[in-house]
Amino acid sequence: MFIGIDIGTSEVKALLLGESQRVIGSVGVALTVERPQPGHSEQGPEIWWNATLSALTSLPLSHPKEYAAVRAIGLSGQMHGAVLLDANNKVLRPAMLWNDTRSNLECTEMMAELPHLSALGGSLAMPGFTAPKLRWVAKHEPECFKRTAKILLPKDFIRLKLTGDYVSEMSDASGTLWLDVAKRAWSAELLALCNLDEKNMPRLIEGSQVSGTLRADVAEQTRLSRATIVAGGAGDNAASAVGMGLTQPGQGFISLGTSGVLFVVTPQYQPNAASATHAFCHALPHTWHQMSVMLSAASCLKWVKELVNAPSEADLVESASKLSLAQRANAPLFLPYLSGERTPHNSATLRGSFHQLSFDTDATNFGYAVIEGVSFGLCDGLAALRAAGSSVQQLSLVGGGARSEMWAQQLASALDIEIVVATDAARSAALGAARLGWLASIENKASSAIRAAAVSEICPAPSVALRYVPDAAEQAMLWDRLERFRSIYQHQMQ
Ligand code: XUL
Repeated sequence: MFIGIDIGTSEVKALLLGESQRVIGSVGVALTVERPQPGHSEQGPEIWWNATLSALTSLPLSHPKEYAAVRAIGLSGQMHGAVLLDANNKVLRPAMLWNDTRSNLECTEMMAELPHLSALGGSLAMPGFTAPKLRWVAKHEPECFKRTAKILLPKDFIRLKLTGDYVSEMSDASGTLWLDVAKRAWSAELLALCNLDEKNMPRLIEGSQVSGTLRADVAEQTRLSRATIVAGGAGDNAASAVGMGLTQPGQGFISLGTSGVLFVVTPQYQPNAASATHAFCHALPHTWHQMSVMLSAASCLKWVKELVNAPSEADLVESASKLSLAQRANAPLFLPYLSGERTPHNSATLRGSFHQLSFDTDATNFGYAVIEGVSFGLCDGLAALRAAGSSVQQLSLVGGGARSEMWAQQLASALDIEIVVATDAARSAALGAARLGWLASIENKASSAIRAAAVSEICPAPSVALRYVPDAAEQAMLWDRLERFRSIYQHQMQ
């Protein structure tokens, strides 16, 4: 039995996975994000830990026998967040999250100081990443910077609580902009840009390796065995890929979560600064991936639901899905840049907008426009990935947005690609984390290696529940609107 824990932005999920690949049960504990100033996005690391404990203590309530048989835990989490700890592991300030855009200026400075930064770190410097955040802290909160002894990513803070060890793994470490992504090692040159060095960093392992075992007090509190292994795990996107069985080059997914991500496994490290994509390590040894990331995806739907006072997001999607093609063709257009954008525009100051409003525009039209605007953002993302050398024929759809048939069909038509939705698509990151726990539990101690056969056995593609192919009539309507969407950006937003 294995547990996967995903430290998301809107929820901490814990999932129990059996050796038959059956998900025995899962628990979610909701989180909120603090936005104390425009562009700031923060969470207190202790709320992740409390939510993790509460998820771990609820799992055995419905599955006591299975919980008692847990051998390993895998961790997954929102990427890039900066948890600052002093020498006594005291949290020095709320964690600045992946969608915090305050460190825009620091990104420009870093790129100017080290022109080959993106070739080394896999991406242009973007404010969501960890490194520019630390430069911001050094400038604006010098006392806090001076006291900072260790910097951890969100899931690695939970690992510290679970095991007492400072450890990260390659996929999440790639998102700091301190990793030499090709070499899978911390880069002294990138760290020096932030006045940091390796002693401020956790030790690095692969996602499928063992990072440690539970502390005695945690084992007692969670009623798990002290011998329970904690695996390296992965950043939430790489973990989702493992959960979906995407371990081979050319396989990929779209995640419709708070952020919108297009992820493709690549045969090697393939940075491409010109397209503003990310080239990162995958969670398995010797594998890499590329990502295009939009900052606001399902979060746009949540926002518009409040705006039009709809009973629920599901309700709004349901009424939008009833619009005919002709009605959709006349809906407003929405540019989904509510908190800036990463791929392809790389702008922290870009903002969203509605266009082509009329007296006929109603709440349903707004809902439709928002869903479509996010799909169009993903079309730009796919174009950026292709420009960066990724090739992909089919995409799995994961995250909360995977629950909507209308959205899945729209993505197939707009992206001109087959979209598949697996039975457990909304929980893929926690599932991938549990699988990494499983792999770590069979890691060959002598060689610190996992066999390729074990990877394919433990990380199969889950059974496909639904399959969507492009619809010619919908595609013609969407591509006409996509052209207008792109021209609005080019002519009005740049
Ligand atoms: C990836 C990214 C987001 C977060 C969300 O680069 O910033 O997908 O990982 O959890």
